[in-house]
This record gives sequence, structure tokens and C-alpha cells, in this order.
Amino acid sequence: MGNQSSNTSPQLVMYLKSLHNLPALNIPEGYELRSFIPGDEKEWENIINASFRYQSDFVKEIISKEYFKPERVKFICWGNKPVATATAWESKDYSKEAGYLHMVGVLPEYTGKKLGYHVSLAALYEMASEGKKSAVLQTDDFRIPAIKTYWNLGFKPMLVHENQVKRWNDISVKLNLPELANALIKDKLV
Ligand SMILES: CC(C)(COP(=O)(O)OP(=O)(O)OC[C@H]1O[C@@H](n2cnc3c(N)ncnc32)[C@H](O)[C@@H]1OP(=O)(O)O)[C@@H](O)C(=O)NCCC(=O)NCCS
Repeated sequence: MGNQSSNTSPQLVMYLKSLHNLPALNIPEGYELRSFIPGDEKEWENIINASFRYQSDFVKEIISKEYFKPERVKFICWGNKPVATATAWESKDYSKEAGYLHMVGVLPEYTGKKLGYHVSLAALYEMASEGKKSAVLQTDDFRIPAIKTYWNLGFKPMLVHENQVKRWNDISVKLNLPELANALIKDKLV
């Protein structure tokens, strides 16, 4: 990955302090929100392969894991076709009180409509309904649309390595969003 992998370790972490008072979930007109149903395995792989650009495996990555529940895997569909996905997951790296937002992707031809925001919000509602108090996620420096999406959802950057002060500053410049760097949480909270 050349430059993308230089000085981009460890991964960036973002933290949403509270799952109370989430914004209203308003799925854009013409689209439909639903959870995983059997048969969606290939649809999920299709979205993830195209958005993350690797060969994903739903069984290996999701269904075989202890955290899998159908209602945790959200899709936004156009007609019957899933075009966006996000998963309400968990991670042993963080507090049990925190949900872990996982595998957010939108088919490239459907980006630019904030579907990533809406489908992630649906996953956050799922976490809240399961009694989670907060949410955490990991991301990468080059995922600019994702970072803006998470920021719009209320996630704040959380420092997990000194090299990330500069990395978050660079991202905040790229996004023309000084508030992002100013919001950097310097104590590990989760
Ligand atoms: C992350 C992802 C799901 C977002 O898709 P989307 O919902 O269609 O996102 P949008 O294109 O609507 O953009 C989201 C925001 O980023 C902003 N944005 C996008 N590209 C940008 C850029 N180059 N510079 C600045 N802002 C940018 C948009 O303006 C929008 O901000 P706004 O809602 O405040 O106006 C999609 O980009 C994706 O699938 N990426 C690949 C997989 C990935 O990285 N997933 C996240 C893993 S952590």
C-alpha cells in the first residue's frame, strides 16, 4: 500500500461517549433499512469487496464469530439490493459497555448520499437497544469520507499513540475541520 501504510500504525480510534440521544434515523426516500437475512452473505461480500477492495468472507469474518446476531448486521437497500452496510460489533480490546462499529461500507456507485451515516446510525441504535453505553471504532488515516461520517455521528478522535497527534492534525487539515483536531481525547476512556 506504499504511502498509505507508512506511519499509519497503530490504527486510529474514535469514541462516541454516549448512545443516549442519538439523532433521529431518517432513511433517505426510496431506500429501506433492514437487518441480515439468510442469503445476504454474498450481498455483504459484494459491498465490502467493492468498498474496501479486498476479498471478504462473510462466514469467516462475521457469521462464525461469537458476536454475530442477524440484527447486528444492518443493510440499506435500494429496491431489494443491499447497497450499504454497517455492523454493531464488540471488541475485547475495549470496555464491555462499549459497542464496536464494524465494517461500514457503501457500494461505490451509491456513495455521496450519506448512506454510510444512516447505516452506521442504525448500528448505533442496535448497540443502544442491547444496553451498550458508548461506541468505539478503528479506522485509517486515508479513510477521509469515513472519518467525516463518524465525526458527523458525534465520534471524537481518541489518542492511542503519540504519533497520532500529527496524524489527526493532518486529517483535520484535509477535512478543513479544525474542530476535529481540537476534540482529540488524550486519555484512554474506553
Ligand atoms: C465510508 C463510506 C461508507 C462513506 O460513504 P458515503 O456515506 O457515501 O459518504 P459520502 O460520500 O456521503 O461522504 C461522507 C462525508 O465525507 C465527506 N467527504 C467525502 N470525501 C471527502 C474528501 N475527499 N474531502 C473532504 N470531505 C470528504 C462528504 O462531504 C461527506 O460529508 P458531509 O456529510 O458532512 O457533507 C464510503 O466512503 C466507503 O465505503 N468507503 C470505503 C470503505 C471504508 O473506508 N469504510 C470505513 C472503514 S473504517
